[in-house]
Amino acid sequence: MTGTARFSGGGFVHVKNPHLEAMDEDVLYHLDLGTKTHDLPAMFGDIKHGMGIPSVSIMLHELIKLLHHAKCRDVTIIRIGTSGGLGVQAGSVVITDRAVDACFQPRFEQVVLGDVVVRGTDLDGGLVEELLACSEAIPDFPTLVGHTMCTYDFYEGQGRLDGALCSFSNERKLEYLKRAHDAGVRNIEMESTAFAALCGLCGLRAAVVCVTLLDRLEGDQIRASHEVLQEYQQRPQRLVAAFIRRRLGLRAAAGNTTSSH
Ligand code: URA
Repeated sequence: MTGTARFSGGGFVHVKNPHLEAMDEDVLYHLDLGTKTHDLPAMFGDIKHGMGIPSVSIMLHELIKLLHHAKCRDVTIIRIGTSGGLGVQAGSVVITDRAVDACFQPRFEQVVLGDVVVRGTDLDGGLVEELLACSEAIPDFPTLVGHTMCTYDFYEGQGRLDGALCSFSNERKLEYLKRAHDAGVRNIEMESTAFAALCGLCGLRAAVVCVTLLDRLEGDQIRASHEVLQEYQQRPQRLVAAFIRRRLGLRAAAGNTTSSH
């Protein structure tokens, strides 16, 4: 692993978070590892990540150029993925009506040549309604419309107490998350504002559909089993598949109770 982590006595990495010691188990969700389920000292190795605004931005620049070179018209683009819920049951699917930043503002700030450029994050309201209508044919999980908060970080940036750094109390964390909820935020992820801004500026009709893996008002760690998480992750895909079938005038898939048109 490369990086600039600071090492304390004995060469060990120093984790500056008093909350970690009190935890019975630490589940490292993105790495699919846990301190109880895995022998982490024996398994330590190189890790590569592809998530968040830098990854989605690079991918979109090249995808949008591809669509341009291919002379595609009337393109609809939907981001599907996972998120943390806010006051909603784990496994709920949130269709984003507004992508907001960590201050609950509908904006995406991009530094360009040293200047902060602020871009709007409007999404297509018609698509939100169409997607919601499709969800009626899939009654086996809750689907709702709400604001989605996009952050630059999974831990401190989303008010988690279980990162390698944490400078706030549980009370301040909950006060922040409740303010977000009062502002209309129903889920938190790490791509939607950049996605909405870039797609909007390039004339693509865009939507964001994410499943919630936990309710952040109840905790920070993602503790659902691998099987449950696998099933949750299919939910946005099932909703978007229903949307595509509806657009193409195809019948509903087996297992969905009503037919689409
Ligand atoms: N993705 C996030 O960004 N946050 C969560 O809590 C879960 C998935």
